[in-house]
Amino acid sequence: MINNPFLDPGRQGELYGKTARLARRSSALMRAKIAGRPVPETIVQLAQAHRTESDRLPGLVADIGCGRGTSSCVIAEQLKPQRLVGIDASPALLNAARSRAGRYPGTQLAFLQGDFHHLPLPDDSCELAVAAFCLYHSPAPGRAIAEIARTLAAGGLAVLVTKALDSYSDMDALITAAGLDPHADRHESLYATAHGGNLADLAQSAMDVVTVEHEEHRFEFSGLDHAAEYLATNPKYDLAPGLYGNPGALAAALHEWHPDKPISSTSVITYVVARSAGGRT
Ligand SMILES: C[S@@+](CC[C@H](N)C(=O)[O-])C[C@H]1O[C@@H](n2cnc3c(N)ncnc32)[C@H](O)[C@@H]1O
Repeated sequence: MINNPFLDPGRQGELYGKTARLARRSSALMRAKIAGRPVPETIVQLAQAHRTESDRLPGLVADIGCGRGTSSCVIAEQLKPQRLVGIDASPALLNAARSRAGRYPGTQLAFLQGDFHHLPLPDDSCELAVAAFCLYHSPAPGRAIAEIARTLAAGGLAVLVTKALDSYSDMDALITAAGLDPHADRHESLYATAHGGNLADLAQSAMDVVTVEHEEHRFEFSGLDHAAEYLATNPKYDLAPGLYGNPGALAAALHEWHPDKPISSTSVITYVVARSAGGRT
């Protein structure tokens, strides 16, 4: 039995078969965020900062594991590549990405279904590949990274983004203290296979790592109702039936445990910028 829901093929439909869970989770986290650069804009800034002088505007950019296309849209708007392809395993999220995307003059934008272990892209085709918050869904992220390296043109850049193993551990402690899952703080991290501590080494096995940045993001949830909006989307807890996916019921259980109070949490975000092996420095 696989104990990590992010790695369990049988749970991917529950996680990404519809847009609601991801949208609710992102909305709850974004409203709680009090420190940390916005991730899509930071990806663009890193790509611009590490582009060599001789690089022209990017031809093809791939946003791998693009989800609802949040980063894809910012990259299209700010980096203005000739072509941008968002690739994801989830048809529902790709549909959401297509309907959320605007028009970006000069950029051809397409969203394709695909598995990041077998990217639907030719060898040496991408000037920039982005993989944000998705490689920890692979039991063997090194394989996905080797596949990204295969698609990079000579001198092409990859920007890989992940979270620290102990991200949001204060929220695990809250669930434990409330008695809703006595083992909440002992489950395997959702980010176990590709996290801030191993992502640079994984990247270095297939590319030349150019820079690594770690940045703490801080969150302040206004109270237990707000915390429950995020917690109800977290698949790793063993909650009583009816609580997972149900923020109202989870909030009611939290209120029984404690009077309302603000909740703080943190997650360290890691950005690895790497260049195709043997590419320009
Ligand atoms: C947390 S979302 C991240 C979405 C987006 N990159 C972002 O930063 O908001 C993780 C995404 O990885 C996708 N994913 C998981 N396994 C995948 C695979 N084997 N191939 C392609 N995409 C995958 C999921 O469908 C989901 O959209």
